[in-house]
Amino acid sequence: MQELSVSPLSTPSYDREDWKRGYQSQPEEMDYWIDEVTGTIPPDLTGTIFRNGPGLTDVAGTPLAHPFDGDGMICRFTFKGGRAHFSNRYVRTEGYLAEQAAGRILYRGVFGTQKPGGVFANAFDLRIKNIANTHVLPWGGKLLALWEAAEPHGLDPATLETLGLDRLDGVLKPGDAFAAHPRIDPMGAAGRWGENGAGQRRLVNFAVKPGLSTTITIYEFDEAGALRSRHSHSVPGFAFLHDFALTPNYCIFFQNPVTFNPLPYVLGFRSAAQCIQFDAKQPTRAIVIPRNPEAGPVQVLETQPCFVFHHANAHEADGQIIVDSVCYESFPSVDPDTDFREIEFDSLPAGQLWRYSLDLAAGTVHSRLMEARSCEFPTLHPNAVGRSQRYLYIGAAHDPKGNGPLQGILKLDLETGARSLWSAAPRGFMSEPLFVPRPGGTAEDDGWVIVTVYNAANHRSEVAILEAWNWAAGPVATLHLRQHVPYGLHGSYTPTCFIED
Ligand code: CO
Repeated sequence: MQELSVSPLSTPSYDREDWKRGYQSQPEEMDYWIDEVTGTIPPDLTGTIFRNGPGLTDVAGTPLAHPFDGDGMICRFTFKGGRAHFSNRYVRTEGYLAEQAAGRILYRGVFGTQKPGGVFANAFDLRIKNIANTHVLPWGGKLLALWEAAEPHGLDPATLETLGLDRLDGVLKPGDAFAAHPRIDPMGAAGRWGENGAGQRRLVNFAVKPGLSTTITIYEFDEAGALRSRHSHSVPGFAFLHDFALTPNYCIFFQNPVTFNPLPYVLGFRSAAQCIQFDAKQPTRAIVIPRNPEAGPVQVLETQPCFVFHHANAHEADGQIIVDSVCYESFPSVDPDTDFREIEFDSLPAGQLWRYSLDLAAGTVHSRLMEARSCEFPTLHPNAVGRSQRYLYIGAAHDPKGNGPLQGILKLDLETGARSLWSAAPRGFMSEPLFVPRPGGTAEDDGWVIVTVYNAANHRSEVAILEAWNWAAGPVATLHLRQHVPYGLHGSYTPTCFIED
């Protein structure tokens, strides 16, 4: 018999059954003013948070193999005059409508879901279901639900009604990909390559065409939604690129050392994502693409193997590009025969925050660990995107060591090294936090960090509002929703409100 350890560090800060319930489907669509509030909603907090994420983890009772295969559900939180309103709606994608009408799974999922009927039902079915579940972005008068392998869906921000596929006024062709990780340059193009864009924000996004070599296309849109630049680059090998980092002059991608063998996918044994293999013998490649294609060639720098989904930020300093990223030791894949709800966190690599210094002249990369605690979903002041930031807020495990679900938010002061954790353990579980600047605020942490928390104690979700400058005080307001919202992916804030009082 093994003795049970009594060290507090080895006691999980959570109950896995609690964590699992946060993945239950939420088929209801609701619309109401939130009337249960602990604390006070800041009266000067005005605007809308849109969030996206898989709302269904089953189709008519048949569980999906992976939550990332779930249909996109948009949540909208409106803040106005010290009050808050909630509404949610599914994106009416072609696949969502067809499966809901049929009452069964009709498509294979990219992350593991197979159609019923075994290998023969799945072999050679390479149709993609655009599930529109990864991000939601207000831009150029539109509201776009994003999923990286296909076109955006347009939504009505006032009703959350689905308007159909949106090809960005002809920028995209039918079937084109458009990544779910746009970055907004707060500086615009002012003075960079001769365009009038002073004070204008720029939306920068990319698309990936995978193959034996990978084509990366960079798009830039002005605030009106008009395309201002587009250029494509080919890099050798298969690349899984979920996110990128932006500076005033560069787009930076990390090409993870993975190989892709599509045969088990084509033959119906595995989903596409289950055919990705981490190759620790290969380096990670930092691909540095000038935003002005005439400014110079694409540079590729090598560093030690790691796997990155998300970058926190990047900036330029003294001929170097500094990139802060959440890195995993290897691709955190789940065994195809294991239900994702039954995963052992400790069997998976933990995400940790690393800082990479890319020396473009020397072609070298220096890296150092910034935060060892398991963490994911970084956010920061929107005006610090592409510039040296002092503060970072990131979802984090409660325990400082090992791997675990996100139960807290860590505020990191990268200048002093100070860090402070707000935790909702043992029964609270985080989604991605968002930083909302306070109107008229000037300091980098003069704003609120707003996060959806699943509370297993009552199987409902809450919205916690923290004053970023007064972190140790914990939430100034906790908004209790009437229902739970499954763990989401990404979201956006806009100062605009789309509903009447
Ligand atoms: Co992401």
